[in-house]
Amino acid sequence: MIYTGIKDKVAIITGAGTGIGFAIASLLLENGANVVLNDLDNEVTEKATKTLDAKYSGHCLPFSGDAGNIEVIDGLVRYTLEHFGRIDFVVPNAGITLFGDFFEFSPQDFQKVVNLNLQGAFFLVQKASAIMKDQGSGGRIVLMSSITGIKSYPSLSVYAMTKAALRMLARSLVLVLGEHQITINAIAPGATLTERTALEEPDYAGAWGKLLPGGNVGKPEDIANTCLFLLSEGAAHISGQTLVVDGGWTVIGRYPGDLD
Ligand SMILES: NC(=O)c1ccc[n+]([C@@H]2O[C@H](COP(=O)([O-])OP(=O)(O)OC[C@H]3O[C@@H](n4cnc5c(N)ncnc54)[C@H](O)[C@@H]3O)[C@@H](O)[C@H]2O)c1
Repeated sequence: MIYTGIKDKVAIITGAGTGIGFAIASLLLENGANVVLNDLDNEVTEKATKTLDAKYSGHCLPFSGDAGNIEVIDGLVRYTLEHFGRIDFVVPNAGITLFGDFFEFSPQDFQKVVNLNLQGAFFLVQKASAIMKDQGSGGRIVLMSSITGIKSYPSLSVYAMTKAALRMLARSLVLVLGEHQITINAIAPGATLTERTALEEPDYAGAWGKLLPGGNVGKPEDIANTCLFLLSEGAAHISGQTLVVDGGWTVIGRYPGDLD
């Protein structure tokens, strides 16, 4: 598939040192874009940027820091403008998945999840789309939701709430951003094998794959391909939508035989 409207564009991707964000950064660079790659950990950010810079020299720059922190977000936007001169694409991908019993969930953990998943995404979108608006040449925003924002899973109520809110953020902003030719959509990945999920469950592919119609968990590249499409020229007429990328998992119904 050839995607147009990616070459020479400037993208900010948070949480891009590993996993889905890294796959998005790689695919954007492969298609000729410039990327500012953010991750919480300085070493992870530097390592990922170095890996990509070896192939796409000068087109990938590092900016480490907590993507839930407003000062970091301000710095990230400023850094991108100083180094690449504009902002066309924003993917607030960084998110924290904190499992916890509903009755025991602490205010501190609640705040942690909300700070990154919601505050970080909201203010990055706010600050970057203000720049896009002034540039006057449109833009693209892709939020990283989750099927956990659609279906119910134990121990993930706070995470689920934030991921559902991101779908609504995309819907809420179509009116504000549409007149500036800025589209905003979300992706809801299903079970996807990343460095983190492999740590959570060593047999991640086996344990989760058997829940899916095709028997395979998703790869970061599956999500990156979807993201590239939503960022491309061809997706100009899509806004306010959430694209579920889960191998068909969420549409499966249950029947009494499942309980045997
Ligand atoms: N992997 C899945 O199965 C899955 C499913 C649904 C949704 N998602 C969502 O997709 C996104 C990426 O998932 P993943 O599994 O690749 O993520 P991950 O948890 O592996 O994190 C990716 C990167 O984000 C960085 N990060 C963590 N906290 C950060 C912070 N405060 N600021 C900046 N960077 C930070 C990590 O260091 C890591 O390198 C997340 O928003 C996640 O909620 C993932």
